[in-house]
Amino acid sequence: MNREDFPMLNQDIVYLDNGATTLKPQCVIDKTVEYYEKYGANAHRGDYDISYKVDQEYENTRRLVKDYLNAKSLEEIVFTAGSTESLNLVVRGFFANLLEENDEVLITKSEHASNVLPWFHLANTNGIKIGYIPLDDNHYVTLENVKKAITPNTKVISLAHITNVIGDIRPIKEITEFAHQHNIFVIVDAAQSIGHIKTDVQDLDVDFLAFSAHKMCGPTGVGVLYGKKELLENVEPLILGGGMNESFDNEHEVYYKDLPARLEAGTPNIAGVIAFGAAIEYINSIGLDKISDYEKKLRKYLIDKLIDIPYLDLINIESDSGIVTFNVADIFSQDVAYYLNKYNICVRAGSHCAKILKNEVGVTNTLRVSLYFYNTYEEIDMLVELLSDKDKILKEML
Ligand code: ALA
Repeated sequence: MNREDFPMLNQDIVYLDNGATTLKPQCVIDKTVEYYEKYGANAHRGDYDISYKVDQEYENTRRLVKDYLNAKSLEEIVFTAGSTESLNLVVRGFFANLLEENDEVLITKSEHASNVLPWFHLANTNGIKIGYIPLDDNHYVTLENVKKAITPNTKVISLAHITNVIGDIRPIKEITEFAHQHNIFVIVDAAQSIGHIKTDVQDLDVDFLAFSAHKMCGPTGVGVLYGKKELLENVEPLILGGGMNESFDNEHEVYYKDLPARLEAGTPNIAGVIAFGAAIEYINSIGLDKISDYEKKLRKYLIDKLIDIPYLDLINIESDSGIVTFNVADIFSQDVAYYLNKYNICVRAGSHCAKILKNEVGVTNTLRVSLYFYNTYEEIDMLVELLSDKDKILKEML
């Protein structure tokens, strides 16, 4: 649906790599240009009309994000460069000060690098321990396994809402309820879920949540760190400079601003943030329920066809999201991606930055199809037809 809104789709491509980034609708592109053409001043610094306009637009996006997440207040929304920066900010600006040697953080082996490496860094510098919640036979997280994994030392559970290879939707609300009974913080990496399923931070009761605008039709280089206000207030800024300080003097006395400015030092990605507002309005105008329902139908259509191809190893048949991961038996995943590219089909191949997942699924590299609402049944037919002839793949892949 809504294909006409996406200029990228005017060319002869089948774009099935939405887990990496989504395409941008014309309204988001127009909003970016509007800022540069009509009111391209800095934010939060000027005392003239167009600078007020910038502030209004920039803060309007914050309001849209707050409503999209059902956060309690605008102070709970911090703009960053993306999920990766958001997760680094919370790990290094909050948990690095809070956690002590032998405190434990639970993650899973299917997390993306940005929800693994900041914790590994903390393990190497502060001596915290990393534990892995065991996954079930489908590579899912269950509440039962979370209960089994926690120890008296567990202080944090940090999970993707939807993982980027397995595509499973985690039972975050149940996990949070249980975790909080044991005084354990819950952090959610919502990069793969934010544009696909509803995210109500009050209902989920998560402590921190991170995501990127570009995975929900927005621009690259913009993300959000949501945090409960009382927690965000204790996040130490990692970047110091203009915009985040109230005053400083030559005796090194520095007073920081209140949230959210305190965590947004320097000139931000103003055009990106403003255009992100257009992306949220666009997604809202379609409706997340409609997006989720359509993706589920597309996914089922794809899986039903892939199951009939005998030499495909399907990794995540049961998942609910638009992420479908598989291998063509005995063929390197990148060779298959290269073959599909000859027919202008864009998929991702490799480890997808989930480099410890191999210990769970037994393979290092896979092909990943990630769907979004502008994909069609016809596109899936084209993909399936190309995958249905192994001799052709072998002949044409090099
Ligand atoms: N995390 C992104 C992906 O899964 C880049 O492709």
